[in-house]
Amino acid sequence: MNIRSSDKLSSTPMKNQLTAIKFELDADFEQEAEALVGPPGQWRARRDLQLSFLSQFGLAKKDRFLDLGCGSLRLGLPLIDYLNVCNYTGVDIDPDCISVSRRLISLFDLHHKSPRIFLSRTFGLEELEQKPCFDIIWIFQVLIHLTNSHVEQAMRSISVFLADGGSAYGSAKIDDGLETISRKGDWRQYAYVHAPLSYYKKVCSKMGLQIQEIGAFNSDGWIDPTHPERLSMLKISKKLSD
Ligand SMILES: C[S@@+](CC[C@H](N)C(=O)[O-])C[C@H]1O[C@@H](n2cnc3c(N)ncnc32)[C@H](O)[C@@H]1O
Repeated sequence: MNIRSSDKLSSTPMKNQLTAIKFELDADFEQEAEALVGPPGQWRARRDLQLSFLSQFGLAKKDRFLDLGCGSLRLGLPLIDYLNVCNYTGVDIDPDCISVSRRLISLFDLHHKSPRIFLSRTFGLEELEQKPCFDIIWIFQVLIHLTNSHVEQAMRSISVFLADGGSAYGSAKIDDGLETISRKGDWRQYAYVHAPLSYYKKVCSKMGLQIQEIGAFNSDGWIDPTHPERLSMLKISKKLSD
């Protein structure tokens, strides 16, 4: 994945090789899968937004991809289809997400791509061999729901599993007016986490990682990134030694 070096952003969506066209669900199944990942009515928009981001970040078929908090494979289905055999791994803490994910893999006959999907309370740290074997690690709309200890665990997982030259990308609600993490409202069993960027910088630094904000977005794509309270896309990589 070459453009990772610049992460130049464009407000015009690039021609998207990654497509979800084959993966439309019937209304009932879409509702069931969507209820596990929310927000209501956004299944396709949130899937296509993720595909567009990955396309802009230069995802290639040969990339080994780890999806932390993969949910009900909103992104996973088209990715499993797109990536080379064995290159998609998804983990989630919710057994319902895992069970719907497995049904979807069967429904769309994707077993030949040998995706690995499993339940994990530790972002894969207990289940996967602990070696740096993923080129891209993705944690989309997950940090916004985690406890502090789960944020640490997620960053530890990124630190352990990210291959040299690889990048992790994640979204988070950034509020630079706050001194530390704050929890507001709820969705399913989770709160909505808002935090200053400095909070994520501190956790990453502890794990030997560096983090940078690459843009703010809404459901339509990139937006003005100057708002003090924003939904941001973050890039996380191994800290370069001084
Ligand atoms: C808003 S959904 C996003 C799902 C998926 N990334 C997507 O965008 O379609 C948040 C997901 O994070 C998962 N999750 C929450 N806490 C987690 C944890 N500690 N470990 C792994 N997954 C977690 C939830 O089960 C849910 O699937």
